Amino acid sequence: MKTIVITGASDGIGAEMARQLAASLKSEVALVLAARNEEALAAVAAQCEAAGAQALVVRTDVAEEVQCRALAAAAVARFGRIDALINNAGMSAQALFSDVRAEDLGWYEQLMRVNHWGSVWCTHAALPHLKATRGHIVAVSSLAGLVGVPGRTAYSATKFAMTGFFEALRAELKGVGVSVTTAYPGVVATQIRYRGYNAAGRPAGSSGLKEDDAMSVEECARLIIDGMNRREREVVMTARGKLGRLLKILAPGLVEKMALAALKDEVKPH
Ligand SMILES: NC(=O)c1ccc[n+]([C@@H]2O[C@H](COP(=O)([O-])OP(=O)(O)OC[C@H]3O[C@@H](n4cnc5c(N)ncnc54)[C@H](OP(=O)(O)O)[C@@H]3O)[C@@H](O)[C@H]2O)c1
Repeated sequence: MKTIVITGASDGIGAEMARQLAASLKSEVALVLAARNEEALAAVAAQCEAAGAQALVVRTDVAEEVQCRALAAAAVARFGRIDALINNAGMSAQALFSDVRAEDLGWYEQLMRVNHWGSVWCTHAALPHLKATRGHIVAVSSLAGLVGVPGRTAYSATKFAMTGFFEALRAELKGVGVSVTTAYPGVVATQIRYRGYNAAGRPAGSSGLKEDDAMSVEECARLIIDGMNRREREVVMTARGKLGRLLKILAPGLVEKMALAALKDEVKPH
C-alpha cells in the first residue's frame, strides 16, 4: 500500500487531490492529510475513507519547521513508509509593493515561510523515506513562479523560490530514483485569493485577478496527479502559461503586458 502525504489538504486543490487519489487507488493508498484546520481535514479524511482509502489527519502549520518534521514522523509511525510528498500548502497575496507600509512588510516573510520554507522543511524530513521507496516529490508552484506577476511581488518571490529549489533538487535526486514534479497552475477556482494577504497583511476578501476562465479544481488536481504518476518534470497547465514562458525569452515586454491585463482594473498599478 502506497503512503502519500499531502500538505494543504483541508481545502482547494489539496483536498481534491486527496479525493481523486482515494477514488482511484482505494484500499491501495494511505493518505496523510496535513493543514491547520483539523475539522476540515477530518471531513476530507471521511470522504477518502468512504472511497476505501486509509486516511490520517495530522494538524500541521507548515510555517513551523518542527511541525513539518512531526508530519513526516507521524506518517512513518502509522504507515511505515512515504511513497509521495505533495507540497501543496500555500497562501496568496495581492498588493502593490509601494502600497505596503514598512511596519506591515513582515507578512512577506510569513508568506515565504508558508509557501517556500514549508515545502523545504517537509521535503527534508520526508526525503530519507522517499529515497527508500524511490518515490515522488510534487511541488505546487504557480504560473507566478515562472513569470513575475504585478501585484504579487511577495507571492511570485515565494513561487520562484520553490521553482529554483525543486529544479536543483530534481537534478540532485536523478541518481536515486526520486522524481520531482513541479506544477504551475494558472487561475484555479478556489478561495485562495480571497484568503490571501492584502497590503496590510489581512485577508484580502476579494480576488484581484479576472477569474472568468478559471480552471476547475477537479481538472487542476487531475493534471497534477497525472504529472506525478508519469514522473514528469513539470506540469504547465494552460496555453497562456506555456506561451508566457516562451515569450518571456523572446518578448519580455509582451509578457509584462499580458500579466498586467490579467489584473482587475481596481488593482492595476496607479
Ligand atoms: N488556486 C489557484 O489559482 C492557484 C494557482 C496557482 C497555484 N496555486 C497553488 O496551489 C496550492 C493550493 O492552493 P488552493 O488554490 O487550493 O488554495 P486554498 O483552497 O486556499 O487551499 C490552501 C490550502 O493550504 C493550506 N494552508 C495554508 N496555510 C497553511 C499553513 N501555514 N500550514 C499548513 N497548511 C496551510 C490550507 O489549509 P489550512 O487553512 O487549514 O491550514 C488549505 O488546505 C497553493 O500552493 C497555491 O499557491 C493555486
